[in-house]
Amino acid sequence: MIRPILRHGADALHCSAAPVGDLTDTVQTLIDDMIDTMYAAPGVGLAAPQVGVGLRLFVADPSSGRSTGDLHVVINPELVETDGSQREEEGCLSLPGFTGQVTRPARVVITGLDREGSALRVEGEGLLARVLQHEMDHLDGNLFVDRLHGIRRDLIVRRVRKLQRRGKW
Ligand code: NI
Repeated sequence: MIRPILRHGADALHCSAAPVGDLTDTVQTLIDDMIDTMYAAPGVGLAAPQVGVGLRLFVADPSSGRSTGDLHVVINPELVETDGSQREEEGCLSLPGFTGQVTRPARVVITGLDREGSALRVEGEGLLARVLQHEMDHLDGNLFVDRLHGIRRDLIVRRVRKLQRRGKW
């Protein structure tokens, strides 16, 4: 089932999420819904706070469903390795219409649990590395705009506030 995606300004997007406990049917349904919602958007990643659930869990697929085996479901992720640097244009389903140049490590390794509760290790370079870090940021209440500096950040925040005031956000 597709769930509504919250936008910048919604409380759930700007606070830290709690670790996932037992992998209950409710959590499994949430994961299924997040996958459906990400592909329908379409997007390359979606974190639980974006559908209003304050749990440390995200789904990611840099191919956006075009190639099988690219889907990652990561529960309680931890960043364990970073290397290098990349600077690319980044967007977010919670900030439709806005993008920014964000500098991030070029390669990361994260650990966590898969949806069966088994230990998981994901190594990513390039776009996958970027998506993994972007989604992990959501679990700490940060959007890509929070990683921008100066006027670019102010510009986006001002435009969002204007849209909110007009009821168009
Ligand atoms: Ni995002």
